[in-house]
Amino acid sequence: MEIKQVEFVISNTNIAKCPQDKKPEYAFIGRSNVGKSSLINCLANNKKLAHTSSKPGKTQLINHFIVDETWYLVDLPGYGYAKVSKNSRQKFQKMIEDYILERPNLINLFVLIDSRIPPQQIDLEFMEWLGENQVPFSMVYTKIDKLKSNQLNKNLHTYHKKMLESWAEIPVYFATSAETGAGKTEILSYIAEINR
Ligand code: GTP
Ligand code: MG
Repeated sequence: MEIKQVEFVISNTNIAKCPQDKKPEYAFIGRSNVGKSSLINCLANNKKLAHTSSKPGKTQLINHFIVDETWYLVDLPGYGYAKVSKNSRQKFQKMIEDYILERPNLINLFVLIDSRIPPQQIDLEFMEWLGENQVPFSMVYTKIDKLKSNQLNKNLHTYHKKMLESWAEIPVYFATSAETGAGKTEILSYIAEINR
């Protein structure tokens, strides 16, 4: 599947204000700066669609983009950004949790993981929380253009070993780069298959 047309719909902090139709949606979540907005732009073939930044904490709202008039891509704020106040971190967390638990349109959450670094407690705990709440998700390793393929394989192996300490099986996963477009076809096919 190639995306033909994507348009920005709405940004907000409140799930009650998200689009009210029943179209399926796919949201992207993960630590600040992991590459959520960049990956959405890569999938959509539009570098200016979602705002990106080299500084963490860029996306602060729930952003809906409508794809080919039939489904939504959703860009979410990152978690785990240390430089915001405790108060605003809690507000973010509440917003993300409400969205994930209460948004009926949400079909699958893509949890982005930086492929360059060892497993982080915050990501592991977040995925456990998804599991406890029976939220369907898949894993997306990002920025693979920054690694040699043997290093990438090594890192994935380490991550999967860690996951198997608490999961019966490895979730569906993708290895991606918003720079080179690696993994893009696979993610779009996966979404197309679910939408069918
Ligand atoms: P927040 O909105 O702050 O939570 O961040 P985000 O997860 O949306 O990250 P964003 O897409 O803004 O990207 C963060 C930085 O990583 C930017 O400088 C991007 O250019 C860079 N980046 C994102 N994806 C890739 C990638 O696949 N490869 C490389 N080399 N850089 C990437
Ligand atoms: Mg962002």
